[in-house]
Amino acid sequence: MKDITCVEDLRLLAKRRVPRMFFEYADHGSYTEDTLRANRDDLQKIKLRQRVFLDVDKRSTETTVLGEKLSSPIILAPTGLTGMQHADGEILACRAAHNAGTQFTLSTMSICSIEAVAAANPKPFWFQLYVMRDRDFIKALIKRALDAKCSALMVTADLVVTGQRHRDIKNGLTVPPQMKIANLIDIATKPAWAWKILQTKNRSFGNLVGHVKGMDDVGSLGHWVASQFDPTLSWKDLEWIRDQWPGKLILKGILDIEDARIAAKIGCDGIVVSNHGGRQLDGAPSSISALPRIADAIGSETEILFDGGVRTGQDVFRALALGAKAALIGRAFLYGLGAGGEAGVTTCLDVMRKELDITMALAGCTTISDIGPQVLADYGRNS
Ligand code: FNR
Repeated sequence: MKDITCVEDLRLLAKRRVPRMFFEYADHGSYTEDTLRANRDDLQKIKLRQRVFLDVDKRSTETTVLGEKLSSPIILAPTGLTGMQHADGEILACRAAHNAGTQFTLSTMSICSIEAVAAANPKPFWFQLYVMRDRDFIKALIKRALDAKCSALMVTADLVVTGQRHRDIKNGLTVPPQMKIANLIDIATKPAWAWKILQTKNRSFGNLVGHVKGMDDVGSLGHWVASQFDPTLSWKDLEWIRDQWPGKLILKGILDIEDARIAAKIGCDGIVVSNHGGRQLDGAPSSISALPRIADAIGSETEILFDGGVRTGQDVFRALALGAKAALIGRAFLYGLGAGGEAGVTTCLDVMRKELDITMALAGCTTISDIGPQVLADYGRNS
């Protein structure tokens, strides 16, 4: 990890080490990938205001998100199949996040189960919920998250049907992984690291295996999952979850002001302005372009989190300037995990926190609360 200076270095290393079908599962987006690209492009277009002679010697990136003290406003987003970027990936990523003083979100579609991650990590983590058709299973899953002392429940709203990702079809992605000739050839060109991922004990959906009625056959889980995403979901379901979950509730996948207002009214403690990292509605606007209006509309009622395209500390700074309390990172930490396991995630968080710290200094900020719209280069020009 010594020679790694930025997240792109981690990406290139992960590309060399992780089996192609899993690397591309993480790296790519849905359909034409317009929204995936827009997430990055629109962030990079936001120019920052350089300030001088403001005494920025003593700085801190510490902040509080949903009542939790964090070393920086950079949180790990929920990502499915994380244990296929590296064996036991969820356990390792959670440990790296906690050791760095920040928070980790476990996906419903994780490889390691809630119980396995909780057993390996004494501090509470966040749990992300997909609301599936089988509400008994969802009720049980919420109870498992409560028993594991998860400190927040993040309900994902933008995946009631799955957006197609061409690469996953072309690569023959399956869970657990089934080896086709093309995949075997790919893995033969990779370091032993790639084989280890496939030989790990946990190779399927850890939260589902053994918990879904009549589904002992691991091979049939993929079909079960595909048939379980629920297009009938409505705000009533969110009210039902609000009643079930006494702790902090976050709604993820909000891009529209009307939706944001309803989420706040139902009593969500936080929302994530997100388009699922450009993996769902291709053609949707970038999440950074949606952030300021949503933050203006409901930022005083509920905490605004943000994700989509965040690869640098400068990106985190941009999101905070436009009204986010914290930024979630998906691919950035997955690249770290694929590149170097726990050490790779630690490096990712360290690199990004330092980039944020230096950006704060060069823009004249010493605390996270100093970061507001006045740090943007075009501040005042539009008013
Ligand atoms: C995701 N995302 C996601 N979101 C969610 O709520 N549940 C999930 O299981 C997953 N799975 C998932 C897998 C992979 C490989 C990726 C890249 C993303 C979306 C994720 O939480 C987040 O919204 C995006 O990753 C943010 O964009 P960036 O940071 O990846 O650009």
